[in-house]
Amino acid sequence: MCGIVGHLGKFNALDAVLNGLEHLEYRGYDSAGIAYAVENQIFISKEKGRVSELKKIIKASSSTLAIGHTRWATHGEVNRVNAHPHSSQCERFVLVHNGIIENYQRLKQIYLENYIFKSQTDTEVIVNLIAFFSQDLSVEEAIRKTMSLLEGSYACLILDTQQADKIFFIKDKSPLLLGISSLGVSFASDITGLIGFAEEFMPLEDKTFGIATTDSLEIYDIIGLKKETKFKKISVKMEDIDKRAYDHFMLKEIHEQPMMIRKIIDHYFTKEEVRIPERLLHTIRQSDKINFVACGSSMYASYFAKYFFEKLCSIPSEVFCASELVYSTPFITKRPFFIFFSQSGETADCIAVMKKFKKQGYPILTITNTIESSMVRLSDYALELCAGKEIAVASTKAYTAMIVVSAILARAVHHAKTNLKNNLKAVSLAMERVLENKEVCMRIAKELVLDRDAFFIGRGIDYWTALEASLKLKEIAYIHTEAYSSGELKHGPIALITKGTPVIAIITQEGTNRVTRSNLTETASRGARTYVIASKSLAIPEDDVIIPNVAHYLSGIISAMVCQLIAYYAAVYRGNDVDKPKNLAKSVTVE
Ligand code: F6R
Repeated sequence: MCGIVGHLGKFNALDAVLNGLEHLEYRGYDSAGIAYAVENQIFISKEKGRVSELKKIIKASSSTLAIGHTRWATHGEVNRVNAHPHSSQCERFVLVHNGIIENYQRLKQIYLENYIFKSQTDTEVIVNLIAFFSQDLSVEEAIRKTMSLLEGSYACLILDTQQADKIFFIKDKSPLLLGISSLGVSFASDITGLIGFAEEFMPLEDKTFGIATTDSLEIYDIIGLKKETKFKKISVKMEDIDKRAYDHFMLKEIHEQPMMIRKIIDHYFTKEEVRIPERLLHTIRQSDKINFVACGSSMYASYFAKYFFEKLCSIPSEVFCASELVYSTPFITKRPFFIFFSQSGETADCIAVMKKFKKQGYPILTITNTIESSMVRLSDYALELCAGKEIAVASTKAYTAMIVVSAILARAVHHAKTNLKNNLKAVSLAMERVLENKEVCMRIAKELVLDRDAFFIGRGIDYWTALEASLKLKEIAYIHTEAYSSGELKHGPIALITKGTPVIAIITQEGTNRVTRSNLTETASRGARTYVIASKSLAIPEDDVIIPNVAHYLSGIISAMVCQLIAYYAAVYRGNDVDKPKNLAKSVTVE
């Protein structure tokens, strides 16, 4: 949450930072701001709203040094004053920050009692602490002293108006990447913020402190020892983050799924064999329970993983919501294995759980779309989703990729000679058919436009898809939705069904077809407007969306895609900002 970008070098830093901020907007888009140097003087511009609003108010046309921020509000309402950059009371220091300082109130009381704060943010404490300590210490020492007091997470870029040719940087827990090219030095919260201005990058480690000028780069570790720099080539290209002819990234990402499945097959299969390190497979085989940990859509994908591991590998498995697991102590078996699912690889709730169980020495695998991420660095093993960059805030292709990769992993653990590869190819083709017939999804979406509430129902696999479908419609169409196991309706929620309430049933499993249909009829008898999404072999002519048959355990991928399209079009017809829904951010880096 929140994105920071910095640039210093021969290129116009204003362009580099504004461009980077636009690419990082998915991390937060409440307000944006920039500090830049012109002839050794620092200027600050900030504005409520998007980077496009910020661009309108910047007076200068070029600068050799700039730092910028795009905000997802945590402390203080969304307004210009709370937008970053923040400056110290004496106006000497200017700073952008991604993260949360948990002890900022205490630090204020101890050190900054006589300071007048302009904003409600935790960030203003950091910049004022640096100013406070710099009265007696060098700037470097003042920053280090401040770092030693901060509790929480931070990635900060700091300017000193008295030496306006330097960017100071500090990092702990929040991500910060350093990029270089012949044009200069860049900083960004993730790789997309570097594209176009850096050719190589390195992720900075926790408790790093550094100083960059046009001709020097110094990085120090926690005890002040100089660190070696180790850069890697940036492989993400501009076209990977381009919307192309699609109206929204979400629509593009929905359409990318058939091809993505083929890419995952190419990545993980050599002929019929699965290519996954034997050491990882061996460790999983030795475990007596698999604990899946994730949040949101990634958690809903984990239910499929649990199913695959229990059915195929006979390893007991459980799905945990990361934000709950941080503060609870469930029964842990003798040889547990932890699998984390995360699109971003930066989800704070997951990281907190990971650290908790890492301390106890339990083996950890992260399955993620972002192989250069904090979660991967903390894990013993990592597997890539190969979904390609997901920009829309609402997850689509990363979610389905999680189901696919977990099926492949379970097959490899089991040593099974299943037909998975061909079944996945069939899924890819079936997804293309769904896209060709998306008018029916548009029709349902149109009918939902004026609804305030909706229900998704299903059982087993179809219930897990209902959970994801409900989340999608909520987060982008802002329709209040509930996902229920269809059998649970009669135990309470059916009281909410009134004339015209939309109830969407997902039916892809033979064993539950009949009962789910009965449960749907029970809602129709109470006035519900019912819809059915059903696999071809189970469908009746009156069903609304008839999806191609695929292997029953993979059918959730197809029905989820139908629900993604319904949510997408419902959001479009409601006039919502589909890619950047209100109050949300793509990387949830706060607990
Ligand atoms: C919903 C969505 C979120 C994420 C959740 C976890 O569309 O994208 O629910 O799934 O915030 O994020 P990651 O997967 O990055 O850990």
